[in-house]
Order: sequence, then C-alpha cells, then structure tokens
Amino acid sequence: MELDRFIYPFASAVVFAMIFSQAGAFDPLDPNGNITIKWDVMSWTPDGYVAVVTITNFQMYRHIMSPGWTLGWTWAKKEIIWSMVGAQATEQGDCSKFKINIPHCCKRNPTVVDLLPGVPYNQQIANCCKGGVVSSWGQDPSTAVSSFQLSVGQSGTTNKTVRLPKNFTLLGPGRGYTCSQATIVQPSVFLSSDGRRQTQAMMTWNVTCTYSQMLASPSPTCCVSMSSFYNSTITPCPTCACGCQNKKNCVSSDSNILSVVGVNTPPTQDNTPLLLCTQHMCPVRVHWHVKLNYKDYWRVKISIINFNYLVNYTQWTLVVQHPNLNNLTQVFSFDYKPLIPYPSTNDSGMFYGIKFYNDVLMEAGPDGNVQSELILEKDTNTFTFNQGWAFPRKVYFNGDECMMPLPDEYPYLPNSAIANWISMSTILGALLILELIAFW
Ligand SMILES: *[C@@H]1O[C@H](CO)[C@@H](O)[C@H](O)[C@H]1NC(C)=O
Ligand SMILES: *[C@@H]1O[C@H](CO)[C@@H](O)[C@H](O)[C@H]1NC(C)=O
Ligand SMILES: *[C@@H]1O[C@H](CO)[C@@H](O)[C@H](O)[C@H]1NC(C)=O
Ligand SMILES: *[C@@H]1O[C@H](CO)[C@@H](O)[C@H](O)[C@H]1NC(C)=O
Ligand SMILES: *[C@@H]1O[C@H](CO)[C@@H](O)[C@H](O)[C@H]1NC(C)=O
Ligand SMILES: *[C@@H]1O[C@H](CO)[C@@H](O)[C@H](O)[C@H]1NC(C)=O
Ligand SMILES: *[C@@H]1O[C@H](CO)[C@@H](O)[C@H](O)[C@H]1NC(C)=O
Ligand SMILES: *[C@@H]1O[C@H](CO)[C@@H](O)[C@H](O)[C@H]1NC(C)=O
Repeated sequence: MELDRFIYPFASAVVFAMIFSQAGAFDPLDPNGNITIKWDVMSWTPDGYVAVVTITNFQMYRHIMSPGWTLGWTWAKKEIIWSMVGAQATEQGDCSKFKINIPHCCKRNPTVVDLLPGVPYNQQIANCCKGGVVSSWGQDPSTAVSSFQLSVGQSGTTNKTVRLPKNFTLLGPGRGYTCSQATIVQPSVFLSSDGRRQTQAMMTWNVTCTYSQMLASPSPTCCVSMSSFYNSTITPCPTCACGCQNKKNCVSSDSNILSVVGVNTPPTQDNTPLLLCTQHMCPVRVHWHVKLNYKDYWRVKISIINFNYLVNYTQWTLVVQHPNLNNLTQVFSFDYKPLIPYPSTNDSGMFYGIKFYNDVLMEAGPDGNVQSELILEKDTNTFTFNQGWAFPRKVYFNGDECMMPLPDEYPYLPNSAIANWISMSTILGALLILELIAFW
C-alpha cells in the first residue's frame, strides 16, 4: 500500500508532464484558438476618449463559465475611468483628488467584471451583462462575444497622444490565460443595422490571450475510464490521476456534510472543489464503453460523471479524438460538431449538451451525469477491436485534457473465440463481396 501511494502520484505526475510539456499554449486540436480583446475608440472627448471593448472567444471548445471573466490592465499614464456601461470596475480606488465629478475608478490597474443579467436597460450595451459567461466559438459564435463601454479621462485625446494600456490580464475563472501587448490595428468598421451606412472607429487596438492548461492547473482535472462488450474488465481511471485522496480533501457520499442545507452553494470566486472521495480524485470522469458490434457499424456509449458537489458545469464541452470519427453516423442526446484543425484531419470533434435538456452537467449526486451513444461506420481498412483501437486517443472536458489509463490496461480483445468470431465476420463480409464481384 505504502509503495502504491509513492509510485502512483509520481507516475501520473511524470505522464502528465510528458503529455503537456510540449504543449505550452499550443493546442493541436485548436491551433488558432484565442481570446481577442479589441478596443475601439469611438470618439475623442475634451480630456480623453470613449471606447467600446469587445472580448471575442475564438476558441473552438473552451468557454468561460460562471462566475465569468475578469479583465485587468495597467494604465500607461494617469488615466481614470469616468464611467462604464455594461461592466464595472471591482474597486473605485483613491479618487480623493476629485471633488465635483467623481470618477467610476481611479486605480492605476483597474479590474473589470461584466454586469449580471437583468440590469436596467440604460446601463446595457449590445453583448453585455451576461455575468461574464462567454460561449466557445464552436458551440455558439453568437454568444462567444462580450462587450462594454468606458469613458476614459486624463488621457491623450488624439491618435498621436493616446497611450495604450499595458499588462493585460484575463481570468476566466481560472488563471490559464496569458495576454499579449496591445497592438494598433486597422480601425474597425461598423455597419448600421440596415447595412446602408458605414462608420469607422477613430482608432483600434487588439490584445490576444491564449490558454495554457499547465498554467491553469498543475494537475489534470478529468480522467477517462473504459469498458467493452468483449471483455468484462472495467479499466478505471489511473489512481491519483488528479491528486491523491487524504482525509481532508474529499467527502464520502454518505457524509453528514452533504445533508447540510446550502452546502452546495459555492462560497467564493475560486471554486475550491468539494469532491466525492474516489481513487482518481478528479472532479470529472469520462467513461467510454464499446457497446455493440454490427456488421458495418459499431456502437459506443459515453458518460460524463461529475464528482464535484460545488459546480454545475453549464455549457460543458467534450472533445474526443478517434480515427473513426470521420465516419460518425449518428449521435444520440448530444450535439456534435467535427473539429477540422487542418484540412487533412477529421479525427476529432466536440460533443456538447442540447439546450434546456442536458447542457448542464449537474453537481455531484444522483443527477450529476450526462450520457450519449454513438454509431460509427466501420472503415474497413483500419477498423479493429484489437489493441485498444476502439478507445479514444485524446479526451478533453471543457477544454482541459483528461488523464487516460496506460495503453496496456485498456480492455483487451481475448485471443480466442470472440476475436475469431469478430474477425471472421469481417473476413466473411469481405469474401462475400469478392465472390459477388467474381460472379458478376
Ligand atoms: C486569434 O484567433 C483568430 C480566429 O481563429 C485568428 O484569426 C487569429 O489569427 C488569432 N490570433 C493570434 C494572434 O493567434
Ligand atoms: C490618426 O487620425 C488621422 C485623422 O483622423 C488619420 O489621418 C491618421 O491616419 C490616424 N493615424 C493612425 C495611426 O491611426
Ligand atoms: C503586470 O501584472 C502582473 C499581475 O497583475 C503584475 O504581477 C506585474 O507586476 C505587472 N507588471 C507591470 C509592469 O505592471
Ligand atoms: C482584432 O480583433 C478582431 C476581433 O475582435 C479581429 O476580427 C481582427 O482580425 C483583429 N485584428 C488583428 C490585426 O488581429
Ligand atoms: C445547480 O443547479 C441546481 C438547479 O438549478 C441548483 O439547485 C443547485 O444549487 C446548483 N448547484 C450549485 C453548486 O450551484
Ligand atoms: C468529417 O466527419 C464528419 C462525420 O463525423 C462528416 O460529416 C464530415 O463530412 C467530415 N468532413 C470532412 C471535411 O471530411
Ligand atoms: C469514411 O470517411 C471518409 C472521409 O471522411 C470517406 O472517404 C470514407 O469512404 C468513409 N468510409 C466509409 C466506410 O464510409
Ligand atoms: C481483458 O483486458 C485485460 C486488460 O485490461 C486483460 O488483462 C485480460 O486478459 C482481458 N480478458 C480476456 C478474457 O482476454
């Protein structure tokens, strides 16, 4: 036992480092994924400017979940924010110099959050006030945008004298994003609603933020378990995949704590999980079951299970890489979109919940799971149940890569009867076709 405890965390840490060491901020399944923050100066004022700031999430499958984004920057000079629409600075800072008109924020490094839904109409602008929740581009481009307006004072008042803010930070809600310097780009062009008149920003600058899982979390946040119709072994998640169990970091399902009213209410922004005790200690487990073998098709059941009592995963996404996904024929109970990062690859795709049906993966407990089944058409050249081929190559939940079991632990096709039967049926099928061709 002692040995196990020593070896497993070490082994999983090594594997994790191996998986992610080369990755950095680059994601091979979403090579152009980023969040772009665009500042459009709409007008100059006597002491500064009015700008509309637009946050666009171009990431295919990584959204910003509740409690939403937090955007920070450092002013280049002594700028202040006179007012904001559609968002607010979290702190006013020291505005004691101002006696008559009091600015909204005097901090040198303001921190801004979105407003919650339902604010009065005159405090809104388009794409604001969603509690900082932003969809992934793959799931819904129309809600992958968040905007606010601010009026800046004590700033330059022309495109020659204005200084760009520096040192942008984007938290969303974790700390996984790194932002570039602001760079001046072609001024944005806006079309009037009837599309008959163009207006142009006075000046525009962009900031690009990219995600790194290593930065977001030192250990994985999900894992994969497996089973199949041809082998009764259930391959569990690797032990200590996301951390090791101890008396303090988890609760058993019959714990008294769970019957306390309000225990599920997340206490703060940081979402420290309240986990069910498991051997993997992951907040989320994805189970892949190879369910049935038809002549030309095969069938998989996917389940996603939540072990965190403090989070309802809204707008969750599941990304899977498997060479047979290019012949995915039917998906039950989930939506699906192929991911084609390069024109030649079509082996990965994103699954997500159906709106108002299962787009929320509920907190741990009896409702804390979502499920789907897939039917894939066998690609006769490569299809096999041998050597774990039927299991996914990579799995991501909410944009974070999940820990997989080691390949030699996958449920294996027995060498004897079933294997023969399965390959026989394939061979027979092929022979039949050959014979038909020969006869004709
Ligand atoms: C950000 O994403 C967009 C959309 O995928 C892409 O066009 C742009 O080149 C990306 N920017 C950077 C700096 O990677
Ligand atoms: C600054 O504004 C002037 C006049 O509006 C324009 O001609 C010029 O191209 C702008 N320069 C930049 C760098 O945007
Ligand atoms: C940039 O921001 C980070 C985090 O907010 C801070 O630690 C750092 O000192 C800042 N750098 C400058 C030059 O303001
Ligand atoms: C600036 O950001 C916008 C998205 O808000 C994007 O459409 C545009 O291409 C970006 N410009 C540059 C030069 O990256
Ligand atoms: C999850 O959603 C349900 C139903 O909306 C709610 O009762 C519960 O308090 C939520 N749990 C958390 C952890 O937010
Ligand atoms: C990719 O695979 C999907 C099935 O998952 C198929 O519908 C789609 O046509 C394929 N796209 C390309 C470009 O091959
Ligand atoms: C599988 O999909 C590829 C392209 O995505 C296609 O060329 C091939 O014919 C398909 N195989 C079957 C058995 O449908
Ligand atoms: C089922 O798979 C496991 C590997 O996970 C293997 O050890 C076992 O021998 C397989 N069972 C049979 C009957 O082949």
